[in-house]
Amino acid sequence: MVSLANFIFFLILTSFCSQTCIINILSVGAISSLKPGDVLNNSQILHSEGGKFQLGFFSKYEKYYLGIWYAGDLEDRKLWIANQNVPILYNSGLLTLDSTGTLKITSGGRTVVNIVKSTGLTGSLVARLQDSGNFVVQDETRNKTLWQSFDHPTSCLLPGMKLGYNLTTRQNWTLTSWLSFSVPASGAFTLSLEAIKDTFQLVIRRRGKVYWTSGAWNDQGFPFLNTIYQYYFNLVSDKDGMFIQLKDRLGGFPSLELFPDGSIIGGHGPIFTRFNKFCYGYESDDGCVSSQLPACRKDGDNFEQKRGDFTDISGTSTNYYDNASISLGDCMQKCWELCSCIGFTAVSDNGTGCQIWKGKKRDFEIDETGNALQRYVLVSPKSSKGAGKSWIWIVIVVAIFITLTLSGFISYIIMRRRKLQDKKRKEEEYIRELTAAASFNNTNLKGEDGREVQDLKIFSFGFILVATNNFSSENKLGEGGFGPVYKGKFPDGREVAVKRLSRTSVQGLVEFKNELILIAKVQHTNLVRVIGCCIHEDEKMLIYEYMPNKSLDFFLFDQSRKELLDWNKRFEIIEGISQGLLYLHKYSRMRVIHRDLKASNVLLDEHMNPKIADFGLARIFKQNETEAVTDRVVGTYGYMAPEFAMEGAFSIKSDVFSFGVLMLEIVSGRRNTSLQQVDRSLNLIGHAWELWKEGCALELKDGALGDVCDNSKQLLRVIHVGLLCVQENALDRPTTSEVISMLGNESMPLPDAKHPAFFTGRDEIESNASGTKAVRRSVNNLSITVLEAR
Ligand SMILES: *[C@@H]1O[C@H](CO)[C@@H](O)[C@H](O)[C@H]1NC(C)=O
Ligand SMILES: *[C@@H]1O[C@H](CO)[C@@H](O)[C@H](O)[C@H]1NC(C)=O
Ligand SMILES: *[C@@H]1O[C@H](CO)[C@@H](O)[C@H](O)[C@H]1NC(C)=O
Ligand SMILES: *[C@@H]1O[C@H](CO)[C@@H](O)[C@H](O)[C@H]1NC(C)=O
Ligand SMILES: *[C@@H]1O[C@H](CO)[C@@H](O)[C@H](O)[C@H]1NC(C)=O
Ligand SMILES: *[C@@H]1O[C@H](CO)[C@@H](O)[C@H](O)[C@H]1NC(C)=O
Repeated sequence: MVSLANFIFFLILTSFCSQTCIINILSVGAISSLKPGDVLNNSQILHSEGGKFQLGFFSKYEKYYLGIWYAGDLEDRKLWIANQNVPILYNSGLLTLDSTGTLKITSGGRTVVNIVKSTGLTGSLVARLQDSGNFVVQDETRNKTLWQSFDHPTSCLLPGMKLGYNLTTRQNWTLTSWLSFSVPASGAFTLSLEAIKDTFQLVIRRRGKVYWTSGAWNDQGFPFLNTIYQYYFNLVSDKDGMFIQLKDRLGGFPSLELFPDGSIIGGHGPIFTRFNKFCYGYESDDGCVSSQLPACRKDGDNFEQKRGDFTDISGTSTNYYDNASISLGDCMQKCWELCSCIGFTAVSDNGTGCQIWKGKKRDFEIDETGNALQRYVLVSPKSSKGAGKSWIWIVIVVAIFITLTLSGFISYIIMRRRKLQDKKRKEEEYIRELTAAASFNNTNLKGEDGREVQDLKIFSFGFILVATNNFSSENKLGEGGFGPVYKGKFPDGREVAVKRLSRTSVQGLVEFKNELILIAKVQHTNLVRVIGCCIHEDEKMLIYEYMPNKSLDFFLFDQSRKELLDWNKRFEIIEGISQGLLYLHKYSRMRVIHRDLKASNVLLDEHMNPKIADFGLARIFKQNETEAVTDRVVGTYGYMAPEFAMEGAFSIKSDVFSFGVLMLEIVSGRRNTSLQQVDRSLNLIGHAWELWKEGCALELKDGALGDVCDNSKQLLRVIHVGLLCVQENALDRPTTSEVISMLGNESMPLPDAKHPAFFTGRDEIESNASGTKAVRRSVNNLSITVLEAR
């Protein structure tokens, strides 16, 4: 890109420079037109009006031609040639506009070529080179162009020139390539615009036969033309004919040239190139037209350019085509069609003529001396020895490749299978171990109360998949702290809840097993029962009994559903939760600290009895928490005791705190966090505390509860106990059993509640946490992530 830009810049510079220079030259009486009787000799130059173009004699291989070129073009391309097929042999050419109005080239007194035959008009005739590069003969008085070089193109198309045809005027504007790069004579190729169906295409013919086509012009231009060149054409068509014109935007010296090898070169490079490449007829890419192959040639046969020469040792004939009207391309064509031809050699350095060699390969000796790549040999990739060898190599390489791929594939399969087997074996082993564990079967697994508990079953993944309908989204019950929960239905009609423990946070199998056995033993009417588990690869699932009435928050925080919870029901729920919590804290040997007690973790059975869910999961996750610093919830904002949130120190007192919040929520029917919109400085705890201090705590009561005059004492007691539970200092908070007796025994005096630990919002949590985010701290290898309560 950079070099191209530089190149264009260079072109602009040079054209600018050359034009300035020309203007200087012009100012000292340069020739810009010929009138009848004027002569331009071989050392004179005719300049266009603006100095952009020049016309004069030039030489090629000691032959002389009259041509037009760009002033200052370093490539010195000849854009038009007057006598391309009749060169002048000596540097003695003259361009004359004679008194009869004939424009002609003469040499040594003889006419070489009449460019414009006598017009009969003499008085006002003028020949001039226009600044478009068009050399014109005009009748100045009638202001009429009698002849113009643009109507007689050679190998180049300039902006303003036409390529196409006009049926009315019977004009046909085509380009004809030079014979070779050194010989301007008309060569083998022509470029024309030809009609095809309703549109037209560019056609390159080689000795009259279609050789290449651009494809029909469409919205995108010509299909086989390099896309950037599509923009260089203007298209004109009417009922009389059609032509394309080059837009004046091909850099400093815009032109488009048909080269002797059949390629089209634009201002910036090739448009279509087949340099040193012969169109054999078997390839049909890029517009190359396929044709019938000679019977003795086959697909892939081609010419190779080599050093040296053939020497005929058998004395059989060779054919010479060393005349000036034949190009190397013609030689190729000759040899290609001649079945006995094995190759040819160039015989001149101007690219014309050749010597064609016929016979069998063994009839020739090859002398590879010399540097010129003048020997063209027809090679057949499959029949020759070299080709045979490469065929063997290809076979070997392919065989090796196949072997490697196959063995790689097989070993992959074996490894995969082994891995799968390993996994399966491990799983089986684990399951066996799990079921064989003393505490883990029907008869031996006893609850802590001594009662036998039901099986803790291990379910297959397939079974769970079927039960949960492939964990379909309709079956999803919610997203708990430790992973999503799905509803499942067993074939016997039993409904369950399947908790998929988030992969990243679950500990190893052994610990999982141990925890699971402990959790299974923790059984209480106010705790959700674990039915079983399922292990699939790295994933672990817990199967719980299904609670048809969802969770407490589903009712408590919904304007219409909360009506279903009257005060008695709410008090029962509070009692139930406290019983479950007491069991967790005191009577289970594990001393389970829930750590995430909240309304959404209190499930309700069909009789609206509360059952605490998700207990023990904190233990399952605990071991892994250092490595799984994930977004898993280990506490919920709004329910967390301050010491837990700040320091990660959890105890039964932090569960008590959460329970206190829960009690206040149950009384008020509002989320702890819900008041913050009303008054940013106070959450529910703060609000309750304010009301309590002002002696109007009953205002906290949920409006949906209606009149509770009979129970207002009990309600106030709940608020009081709740406030005791949320006291700032954990030591001041009652234990769970104390809470239960406080709630149950109306005559029991209650201590005064001290200032509660109420957060005034997230801001305070953050500022309390020594500047950094308290919502995500790591203490005692415990990562706390705080989420808003749902
Ligand atoms: C060409 O014409 C010019 C001007 O008439 C003259 O000076 C010059 O010598 C001529 N050159 C030749 C080679 O005749
Ligand atoms: C000659 O004709 C051309 C168009 O054919 C026109 O642009 C130009 O002005 C005319 N010149 C004179 C001198 O009439
Ligand atoms: C124009 O010339 C080309 C090449 O000679 C030829 O193939 C084509 O048919 C001609 N077109 C018309 C309309 O005469
Ligand atoms: C063909 O020539 C006629 C007569 O000069 C002209 O009216 C018409 O516009 C030309 N059409 C094309 C496409 O060149
Ligand atoms: C040049 O070769 C061509 C091709 O065979 C032939 O037709 C032609 O007569 C030859 N011309 C001369 C001058 O030998
Ligand atoms: C090309 O070179 C050959 C041999 O040297 C010669 O006969 C022929 O005239 C040259 N053709 C041209 C156009 O210069």
